Amino acid sequence: MKKRLEEIKIEARRAIKAVTDETRLSRVKAKFVGRKGQITALLKQMRDVPDDEKPAFGQMINEVKDVIEAWIEARSGELREEKKKRRLTEERIDITIPGRRTPLGGGHPVTLMMEEVVRVFMNMGFEVAEGPEVELDYYNFEALNIPKDHPARDMQDTFYISDEVVLRTHTSPVQIRVMEKRKPPVKIIAPGKVYRCDSDVSHTPMFHQVEGLLVDSGVSFGDLKGVLREFVSGVFGRGVGVRFRPSFFPFTEPSAEVDIECVFCKGGGCRICKQTGWLEILGCGMVDPAVFESVNYDSEQYCGFAFGLGIERVAMLKYGVGDIRLFFENDVRFLRQFRGRT
Ligand code: PHE
Repeated sequence: MKKRLEEIKIEARRAIKAVTDETRLSRVKAKFVGRKGQITALLKQMRDVPDDEKPAFGQMINEVKDVIEAWIEARSGELREEKKKRRLTEERIDITIPGRRTPLGGGHPVTLMMEEVVRVFMNMGFEVAEGPEVELDYYNFEALNIPKDHPARDMQDTFYISDEVVLRTHTSPVQIRVMEKRKPPVKIIAPGKVYRCDSDVSHTPMFHQVEGLLVDSGVSFGDLKGVLREFVSGVFGRGVGVRFRPSFFPFTEPSAEVDIECVFCKGGGCRICKQTGWLEILGCGMVDPAVFESVNYDSEQYCGFAFGLGIERVAMLKYGVGDIRLFFENDVRFLRQFRGRT
């Protein structure tokens, strides 16, 4: 056994010297001092050694084991040093190669447009409010003076979750939710996603709106006109003409649709504005007393106005985009064009 131990020691010494990398070294380590290695095998053979010789043998084996382990440790250090030296002398860094750029993303045009619109209204003192996208029929329709079976419901093709729950078809339900919680004066905008079962060049099943609501005593239609003119100036620039056309919404009376002077032909008439010189951008009106009634506001004491505009529509007009679906196809060649805008 003593002889065998000597052999192992010599063999290990040779093997450790011969290895040239860490992986091979760890293989050598396993072969000699690992759990299934030769030293362990010898320790197992101790069974056959007479009892009185066991301590001496055990000590001998352990000494050899320690020696082999020390060699391995030393060799490992040498290998690491060699590797480092090789790196320092052989590897050359070409400092003239251009660096690798981390591609920077940019805001989505709808987000950018939304932020811009919100900023313009916040500058006029409007506060931002939010409501749920999955909405009760009550808030989306009923409280807004659109009873069940009323033909006005056909203005908006609705995704129903159940008889009483819908994906909101506009941001107007936020008007009700805010008024239920607060007393006038109220001066809020409500940006968010809305859903309609509709799809073509100017409609997607999901799009974004910004709602506006101002309630106080003595609010006039003139105030509404002033606020919306300021909005058009803020987004499209001063000097762009604005006109109000009579319209109908169940929750406003009187109601109007607002057009801006065609930004493409400057009012002269073109394909985009269908030769009219005008482009429709939003719906608005004075809050209908029936709406005040559903939130227990005294319509003798208070009045107000509301408006709702489609963000994609405003973005299409501002950036000259002809098909609303481009916003949602995620083609980077389209999206890249908005990089750097704020
Ligand atoms: N909610 C209306 C729509 O989506 C827009 C609107 C809002 C009209 C507020 C008047 C007042 O069509």
